[in-house]
Amino acid sequence: MSAPLIRPNVLELEPYSPGKPIEEVKREFGLTDVVKLASNENPLGPSPRAIEAAARAMQTANLYPDGNCYELRQAVAKHVGVAPEYFLFGNGSDELIHYIGLTFLMPGDEVITGYPSFVRYDAAAKLNDAVLHLVPLREHRFDLPAILKQVNARTKLIFIANPNNPTGTVVTADEVESFVRDLPSHVVVVFDQAYQEYVSRADYPDTLRYVREGRNIIILRTFSKAYALAGLRVGYAIAHPEIIDAINRVREPFNVNSVAQSAALAALHDQEHLQRAVALNRQGLEYFYAQCDRLGLKYVRSEANCLMVDLGRDTQPIFQQLLRRGVIVRTGHIFGLPTYLRITTGKPEENERFIRALEEVLKS
Ligand SMILES: Cc1ncc(COP(=O)(O)O)c(C=O)c1O
Repeated sequence: MSAPLIRPNVLELEPYSPGKPIEEVKREFGLTDVVKLASNENPLGPSPRAIEAAARAMQTANLYPDGNCYELRQAVAKHVGVAPEYFLFGNGSDELIHYIGLTFLMPGDEVITGYPSFVRYDAAAKLNDAVLHLVPLREHRFDLPAILKQVNARTKLIFIANPNNPTGTVVTADEVESFVRDLPSHVVVVFDQAYQEYVSRADYPDTLRYVREGRNIIILRTFSKAYALAGLRVGYAIAHPEIIDAINRVREPFNVNSVAQSAALAALHDQEHLQRAVALNRQGLEYFYAQCDRLGLKYVRSEANCLMVDLGRDTQPIFQQLLRRGVIVRTGHIFGLPTYLRITTGKPEENERFIRALEEVLKS
């Protein structure tokens, strides 16, 4: 097939590059024991109640799922404290980002986000022939005043990851308040709160307030991170019912499978397990901070489940050396931060193994 058949903006898209799979590293380096701290996955694993619910749901996997996610919607609505018609569920929040692009963007519209941030916002813009503006982070945080300066009559969507991936940083309630108040009404802001459950800071914004006020705000949340169901793909959007109704028109009829819906519902009801995951993450971050301090390495304090560590030199060779030692992390190259590694928090023994390996590599 010749390239001219394909839309030029599709050819401009980079295929998503995931963290290196464990099995691949085992094969490549002849290892049997490999630790992956590369994809912001939850090391605790799913709630046993979610596993049981998923197994039970398999018994009726011959039937199509409930496309409206009725039970899950009711439960999440109760949990969040907003009416069920404010919700839309997706096959991961990834799918919702895609749907938001399809719902709002016309060719030539403008999209703004921070850089570096989550790469799927770029794809939503490019796929719809929109113009993408990447506003550099300031001290590793979204720079909301600089984003406001980029807003013009063609601006349609602004994506704000809060906490941000890869930096784990947040914008505060005060910053969001003045940003939202100054924003013209033709702009839709997406607050991607995939890591919200991990946040410990008291000044984290309550963006639901703006949704309740009827503003053009969409909140994205997910069961992939603190709820540990990344493999089942369940995310959701919270927005005014008019916005939800529009995105729902774009939605695939059976986008969230029945096993995932049942597991997510059970996971939601196991808040103790969630709290264990949050505590494990906090413990991991504190351990990494202490070890980085000991090794004299700079890092960015994180409210997510990953940490950016600055090694002060190109991290590609270090990444390779870590792989040989059976530890998979991510280099900052794809985020434009080539001297950084992004490390997901793991179990204590995994975190210790990473630090041991890093120390060896840095000494060698
Ligand atoms: C900021 C952010 N948003 C969304 C996602 C996608 O999550 P999901 O698994 O719900 O598609 C990720 C995944 O890493 C992320 O980091």
